[in-house]
Amino acid sequence: MTAVRTILITGASSGLGAGLARNYAAPGIRLVLTGRNEDRLEAVVHDCRVKGAEVVTGLFDVGVAEPLGSWLIAQDDAAPFDLLIAAAGVSAGAGVDGQPEGTALAAMQVRTNLLGTIHTIEPLLPRMIARGRGQVAVVSSIAGLKGLPYSVGYSASKAGIRAYGEALRGLLQPKNIAVSVIVPGFFDTPMTDRWKGPTPFMVGLDKMVAVIRRGLDRRRPRITFPHLLALGNRAADLLPATIGDRIMRGFHFHIEPGR
Ligand SMILES: NC(=O)c1ccc[n+]([C@@H]2O[C@H](COP(=O)([O-])OP(=O)(O)OC[C@H]3O[C@@H](n4cnc5c(N)ncnc54)[C@H](OP(=O)(O)O)[C@@H]3O)[C@@H](O)[C@H]2O)c1
Repeated sequence: MTAVRTILITGASSGLGAGLARNYAAPGIRLVLTGRNEDRLEAVVHDCRVKGAEVVTGLFDVGVAEPLGSWLIAQDDAAPFDLLIAAAGVSAGAGVDGQPEGTALAAMQVRTNLLGTIHTIEPLLPRMIARGRGQVAVVSSIAGLKGLPYSVGYSASKAGIRAYGEALRGLLQPKNIAVSVIVPGFFDTPMTDRWKGPTPFMVGLDKMVAVIRRGLDRRRPRITFPHLLALGNRAADLLPATIGDRIMRGFHFHIEPGR
């Protein structure tokens, strides 16, 4: 297996993306990190450089295809990517009173999470295919296994990412490009801080980063953690819909507005 040397991480200014950037940072590693908030991203860059990594940054809204796509191609010209991690994401949800999210909020989550993943991966695929090597990681969620009634747009975006990643995996496997579909449960980040409700089996960020890193090192097709929570969501999906929906409705939560 070729060693991973040049890594793209979107959403690197916070939470999972920042944790993975710090984890991968080492001499000989080139990290291409993106986010929107310059100060948060710079703090991560500082830590990665201290650990000896070469770091390049870009500030982009992943929900908009350009100029992100052209910039990614320029970065690939400078040093071909070995691994792409599309980690940028947002969450929102119904209000405390269970009112629908509305068009703007639901569409914003699909645009950022699902289209953002596509905008990140697609420009680089023809190049990886031509090289006959590479690795891609997309971040779904247990919300992509069975929709969460109080977070409709988020669930739709994460189910979309899961389907996108699995379809891509089938397509790219014969071309020697591994696709890992990451399906996390709850882990401790600013996104989870805004979640007001139960967080069963929640783990620390470092634990989740370690599990994902191990899975990526092994080019695992699916990285699911914690397994019990994913199993619960899968089971709820296999039950008759009215029963499964009632169980999911029992987990009351709301999500406070983002940063
Ligand atoms: N936390 C959990 O329990 C959990 C569970 C399952 C899945 N996930 C998924 O894991 C991923 C990381 O989540 P997290 O918990 O680490 O969240 P987080 O701490 O809120 O970080 C989100 C990251 O995404 C970036 N981002 C958001 N909107 C963006 C946009 N339009 N364009 C570019 N970048 C954007 C943010 O950049 P700025 O800060 O610079 O704006 C930040 O770097 C997400 O895809 C999330 O859905 C999280």
